[in-house]
Amino acid sequence: MRIDIITLFPEIAMAPLGESMMKRAQEAGLVEIKAHDLRDWATGKHRKTDDYLCGGGQGMLLKPEPIFAAIEELRRPETKVVLMTPQGQVFKQALAREMAAWSDLIFLCGHYEGVDHRVIEELVDLELSIGDYVLTNGAIAAAVVTDAIVRLLPGALGDARSAEDESFSDPDLLEAPAYTKPIDFRGMKVPEVLLSGHHAKIEEWKKAMARKRTEENRPDLGR
Ligand code: ADE
Repeated sequence: MRIDIITLFPEIAMAPLGESMMKRAQEAGLVEIKAHDLRDWATGKHRKTDDYLCGGGQGMLLKPEPIFAAIEELRRPETKVVLMTPQGQVFKQALAREMAAWSDLIFLCGHYEGVDHRVIEELVDLELSIGDYVLTNGAIAAAVVTDAIVRLLPGALGDARSAEDESFSDPDLLEAPAYTKPIDFRGMKVPEVLLSGHHAKIEEWKKAMARKRTEENRPDLGR
């Protein structure tokens, strides 16, 4: 898989992707991730990437010319172009699974008030938000989505089952509570059923607790 991130802040995009599992996935050749500075495609003395809003209004907008030039240079026949924006579809685990099967991906990261709408109409396949709040720039969001996708690539997780068991494998259910040793910590004990060795009972307990946690933390799921 190939991921290109076009942003005014390549270092913000790459910082979380240069450690731990993301680093190993790149070293193992599962994915090639590159962040590009949009300014490299800006022309003129000041390499301007933004401008005032036509029709008036607060803030600045990313100009179309450098974005068209960047995407036209970087895209390949299979490339999907994803714009990170709070106005996009909200990213979920099911979409992460779908995107993990894509071979070529460009994340275009918005900044200021966003991008000229001609970019969205002509170049963008998907507008994506990571949640209903506004970040200072889309590079943070692109790193979040990249992490969620790359960890699903075959071979990225040490134990493939950890991707199957976790929250959102069933999109309507959170994970059951989990415990490790010591069995008694300051008088707080690990639930006895988990020490019973009785697998059917343990599974039953996990399902009931998963439903309870979902009801407590995310009553909106499955409605
Ligand atoms: N850029 C600013 N806020 C964002 C969000 N919530 N998701 C994606 N990109 C963004």
